[in-house]
Amino acid sequence: MSDEAYEQSLRAIEQVIADETESDEILRRAVDLLHGGFDSYSWVGVYFVEGEELALGPWNGPEATEHVRIPIGQGICGLAAREARTVVVDDVNKDPRYLACFLQTRSEIVVPILAGGSVVGEIDIDSDRPSAFSKEDQALLEGVAGELGKAFTR
Ligand code: SME
Repeated sequence: MSDEAYEQSLRAIEQVIADETESDEILRRAVDLLHGGFDSYSWVGVYFVEGEELALGPWNGPEATEHVRIPIGQGICGLAAREARTVVVDDVNKDPRYLACFLQTRSEIVVPILAGGSVVGEIDIDSDRPSAFSKEDQALLEGVAGELGKAFTR
């Protein structure tokens, strides 16, 4: 990803947050911007923390996932939520923690969204390409998650 694409995407999401007051709408538009902005982001979704589970919120991609609720601690999503850190999997077929959703998925990144010091949700992105998520992608998505965390708290 180029620095320009990175900056444009982050600015677009900051603009959505500045313009919108409804947090549901902010999340939906952020998901759409990420899905539409990067060819390698095949499926983009947001999960919310609800008690001991993650519940699927807005998503954009070619197919629905069967994983609409994931116990915290299970899968890559549950790991990122439990440990409050970004998890990148370069080859999902080699990671026994991975919960399979789509046959085409080769790599995945999950970035927690924090508000008030706690994990309130996460951004989950699947790619049909192996090793699709670089340090730049991680930095972008952590920036976006930081912005979305603000939307959760206001
Ligand atoms: N692969 C995820 C499950 C969610 S789907 O990718 C949408 C995981 O391992 O937690």
